[in-house]
Amino acid sequence: MLCIYIKIMASKKKKASKKKSSSNKITNREVLEEIIRVDHAGEYGATKIYDGQIAIFGKNSKLGKTIQHMADQEQEHIEKFNELILEHRVRPTALLPLWNVAGFALGASTALMGEKAAMACTVAVEKVIGEHYQEQLNLLGDDHKDLKKTISKFRDDELEHHDIGIEHDAENAPGYKVMSKVIELGCKTAIAISKKV
Ligand SMILES: [Fe+2]
Ligand SMILES: [Fe+2]
Repeated sequence: MLCIYIKIMASKKKKASKKKSSSNKITNREVLEEIIRVDHAGEYGATKIYDGQIAIFGKNSKLGKTIQHMADQEQEHIEKFNELILEHRVRPTALLPLWNVAGFALGASTALMGEKAAMACTVAVEKVIGEHYQEQLNLLGDDHKDLKKTISKFRDDELEHHDIGIEHDAENAPGYKVMSKVIELGCKTAIAISKKV
């Protein structure tokens, strides 16, 4: 009887210590740097995409105002990552000038194709970013609780942008499926490059 009791207690202790160690996961420094670098790049690119769309639709049009709401949130996001990149001493991506031009060009060119195409661009970009933020939440340890909170809030904002795109009939844009795939692939490539370069 005593033997069984000792075995049970030992197994409970083992489980408890296992649980403790998983909740105390420490984030690898390289992973942390990649997360901050790529998010800084992505938020910068997002502000440029919406700048490009607003340049075409104008700030005061009905759609322009909706886009401005998303652009304002992107501005908050990039400002936060501007702080984080300094606080954690992370080198920004060398490709910011490229994301400046590419982001603006993507926003303006889809806006020139029409309102639904602009919204299709939003849906594709925000889908990738929302999923990407979710993956990062799984990678970060409890040693970065504040960063996790920030990323979780931003993920919710990006998913709200995605839903705004859907509500504005993005899925009825001409060539929606092909356009979405091309933009999603472009975003994923940009993410992969900006982590490292
Ligand atoms: Fe954002
Ligand atoms: Fe967004």
